[in-house]
Amino acid sequence: MLLPALLSLLTLTVHSVDLPHLPLVPYPQHVSLLSSSSALIDPLTFTFSTTSSSVLLKEVFDRYHKYLKLHDFVQKLNVTLPNLEVVIKDPDEELLLMTSENYTLTIQTNSAILQADTVFGAMRGLETFSQLVNTNNYSLPTLHIEDYPRYKFRGFMLDTSRHYLSVGVLKQLIRAASWSKLNVFHWHIVDDPSFPYCSVVYPDLCRKGAFSPHHVYSQSDVLEIILFSYKHGVIVLPELDTPGHTLSWGAALPGFLTHCPGHGNIGAPYGPVDPTNEAVYPVLKELFTEITNVFPGEFVHLGGDEVHYPCWKSNPNITAWMAAHNMTGNYDQLENYYETRLLNIVNSLNKNYIVWEEVFYHHVDITPQTIVHAWKPNWKTIFQDATAAGFRCILSAGWYISRIAYGEDWQNFYLVEPRSFNDTATPEQKALVLGGTVCMWGEHVDNSNILSRFWPRASAPAERLWAPEYLTDVKFMEPRIEAHRCRMVRRGYPAEPTLSRGHCHVEYTWATHH
Ligand SMILES: *[C@@H]1O[C@H](CO)[C@@H](O)[C@H](O)[C@H]1NC(C)=O
Ligand SMILES: *[C@@H]1O[C@H](CO)[C@@H](O)[C@H](O)[C@H]1NC(C)=O
Ligand SMILES: *[C@@H]1O[C@H](CO)[C@@H](O)[C@H](O)[C@H]1NC(C)=O
Ligand SMILES: *[C@@H]1O[C@H](CO)[C@@H](O)[C@H](O)[C@H]1NC(C)=O
Ligand SMILES: *[C@@H]1O[C@H](CO)[C@@H](O)[C@H](O)[C@H]1NC(C)=O
Repeated sequence: MLLPALLSLLTLTVHSVDLPHLPLVPYPQHVSLLSSSSALIDPLTFTFSTTSSSVLLKEVFDRYHKYLKLHDFVQKLNVTLPNLEVVIKDPDEELLLMTSENYTLTIQTNSAILQADTVFGAMRGLETFSQLVNTNNYSLPTLHIEDYPRYKFRGFMLDTSRHYLSVGVLKQLIRAASWSKLNVFHWHIVDDPSFPYCSVVYPDLCRKGAFSPHHVYSQSDVLEIILFSYKHGVIVLPELDTPGHTLSWGAALPGFLTHCPGHGNIGAPYGPVDPTNEAVYPVLKELFTEITNVFPGEFVHLGGDEVHYPCWKSNPNITAWMAAHNMTGNYDQLENYYETRLLNIVNSLNKNYIVWEEVFYHHVDITPQTIVHAWKPNWKTIFQDATAAGFRCILSAGWYISRIAYGEDWQNFYLVEPRSFNDTATPEQKALVLGGTVCMWGEHVDNSNILSRFWPRASAPAERLWAPEYLTDVKFMEPRIEAHRCRMVRRGYPAEPTLSRGHCHVEYTWATHH
């Protein structure tokens, strides 16, 4: 019995010991070194070339030129490699969840070529190329890389309700996400504390529900974020969480929330949406119609987590309504009634949706295309049940990077494996696991500290979601995540230390970047 276990352990160890030690995060699927000689570039004159006429690709080239020029030393170089040739099969491909991000990169001493199916795949490859440049002497190893993501859904969630994040900081987070090859920005845009999204159909929602007129996202801010994300290969997934987590909607929409003095979950006299109020549904229809028009992605996130039943329970009108509808004291029935009506609305808008696990767990009648988003410690049971029922799943349990403790914690995030929910699950079930999302809830972060708290800790799950499954050796990750953080520091980000001691060759200086 011991032997197979020992053997597989040996295979694992051999794998990471054998891999070239390259400063890449995430680590590619396949790397082979070509020779011991390296290519030398001059970052000031280096060019990217392509026969593709993609305007987006030209912008991406500009971005990577800037990174190449962030050099430590100016020295006389004997340049061997003047150019990277980029070949794209389908430059007009849209950015969708299933869009190919595959690329191959071949670097020889005096020629280099990057091939990708799409511009978005080329972005991933250009990031890898830029990470390979040794900034001391501008050498790159000669190698061949074949790379593609193991999971198609590699998300990061930001909560802009508990604290406001400026458009500038959101963009910085999105840009750094592309450096770790994340591809979905799950925007938890509103929640109980504030409603910063400025809706066209219900402008009072942000007028009355935001912290102040300065703590809002106008329609042009939202479009700016969507466009910026697109240019970094990132899909924006908006979440309008209902029926719980909606306190901030109340001021603009009288009667929308359940009145429950003394029974609200966060001290307010109101709780979840009042599902018994018919006036609620046309509002939801208008709002979700707007959201599905503003955000071009295939998905919307409908929330559905943590509905506070004591509020509903305390309201005599709700009790009477439930009795009249034969819902005898089981509040799951009321929640399902609400969700079913909401889903009927969203189904008519031709978008797929993602729901927090509670919606699945409470047996709401969701469409087969629904993605179930697990966040609680019992996620393995949810994944087993949901995939057995044919639903696609994404994971956030284990990836709440808003939780901090003294000491190094990226290793814990690193070792979470979304497909490890059940050894006897079928390959079809495992294939339904699309990936996961790193979550930064907003209780204790705002513009002042989110970049440091997010990076590089989020890069650990980012590698899990992209890199080969066997890569579970934290010792192999350690120098790479530290190199990645120093690279972010070099690119102007206050990315925090990962290890308990060490230094970056170029340290972060607040003054240099402001
Ligand atoms: C560059 O090449 C010249 C001529 O081959 C050689 O003398 C010089 O040492 C080289 N410089 C460097 C920095 O390698
Ligand atoms: C990307 O590469 C993977 C692994 O080789 C392959 O399974 C997948 O079909 C490729 N995708 C495309 C669009 O070629
Ligand atoms: C560049 O520097 C690295 C160490 O930082 C070294 O391993 C490598 O051999 C150097 N390459 C060249 C071409 O000098
Ligand atoms: C119950 O409904 C009545 C009639 O609409 C209303 O006046 C009353 O305030 C409601 N009670 C609660 C607790 O919401
Ligand atoms: C409630 O149940 C009774 C008895 O089974 C039935 O006559 C009535 O139509 C039901 N009402 C609703 C709203 O489903």
